[in-house]
Amino acid sequence: MANTSLPTKLQNSLPTAVKIIEVGPRDGLQNEPQTISAEVKIALVDRLSQAGFRNVEAASFVSPKWVPQMATSPEVMAGIQRRDGTLYSALVPNMKGFDAALAAGVDEVVIFAAASEAFSQKNINCSIAESIERFRDVAQAAKENKLRLRGALSCAFGCPYQGEVSGDSVADVVQRLRDLGCDEIDIADTIGVATPRHVQAIMQRAIAEFPIERLSGHFHDTYGQALANIYASLEVGITIYHASVAGLGGCPYAKGATGNIATEDVLYMMRGLGIETGIDFDKVVDAGQFISRHLGRPAVSRAGNAIAAKRIH
Ligand code: HMG
Ligand code: MG
Repeated sequence: MANTSLPTKLQNSLPTAVKIIEVGPRDGLQNEPQTISAEVKIALVDRLSQAGFRNVEAASFVSPKWVPQMATSPEVMAGIQRRDGTLYSALVPNMKGFDAALAAGVDEVVIFAAASEAFSQKNINCSIAESIERFRDVAQAAKENKLRLRGALSCAFGCPYQGEVSGDSVADVVQRLRDLGCDEIDIADTIGVATPRHVQAIMQRAIAEFPIERLSGHFHDTYGQALANIYASLEVGITIYHASVAGLGGCPYAKGATGNIATEDVLYMMRGLGIETGIDFDKVVDAGQFISRHLGRPAVSRAGNAIAAKRIH
């Protein structure tokens, strides 16, 4: 019989538990060209919270002229069934968005900056420095209202407009988000170009600036590297990951970028690695098949589709 035991060094190097943040209802659906009703979005969020996610990114209070699909966010937040133990998060670019998010009862607001000047201009119509100034008021209001504050850092591994992004830029914006009082910071590969050693190098720069247990990896899967990049991040000790059910999505300001890594694929890998997630895998597969039916196309999840096919035969 083959010896399948791993060298002790490797066995000890991976975390034993991780938090998965489900971003499908926001990052996933924001890029859908077809209008999706608030009713369907609500059903998706409820299915996901019932699967046991501790955090679901459910909405986005941005300009409806910029991202029309997210205009139903107040209805979505009003219609969901809150589950104890799940935090419901929403993107907020400015005070207008914050006020709407507060009125809608979100638990966590997400300010979103970029490590690339060009992307900052395209995505939120201002420079990185201007965005940080805008976020200062949002951060203060979040603290005053006892909301959790998360900071997303786009284009940490590459930019669709300017190409390369330096580790210095990442470290600089992580510092600025930290100084605003972010409880958690997401290191995002917006266009899915990173490969594992690059990920480890950039994560090390972020870890030098911010507590590792509050850093997350947000990997789009455009070049098929996201699962490998999550594994690489596990090796350096990152314990929070974003994923999108059925692999939904992309970013409207990053043309050609596909969705985040599919949640089903992440859960399948974590289960195989013996890493605890606290999430009901079958319910996530169901949620993925549910939204894919509504969108009229198969899920972009290898593991989700494999499990669904096995159920039929
Ligand atoms: P602007 O045009 O410079 O803003 O956009 P403005 O202040 O001049 O306002 C223009 C209009 O928008 C006004 O309306 C405002 O009232 C309205 P008008 O007077 O013309 O009728 N407006 C708003 N309406 C609702 N909610 C608001 C809001 N703010 C202004 N919060 C702005 C600047 C930031 C608003 C705009 O650029 C924007 O909304 N951008 C959002 C882009 C976006 O959502 N991108 C996708 C999310 S980021 C992402 O996906 C990356 C991530 O997943 C991580 C990764 O993968 O990298 C997080
Ligand atoms: Mg994203």
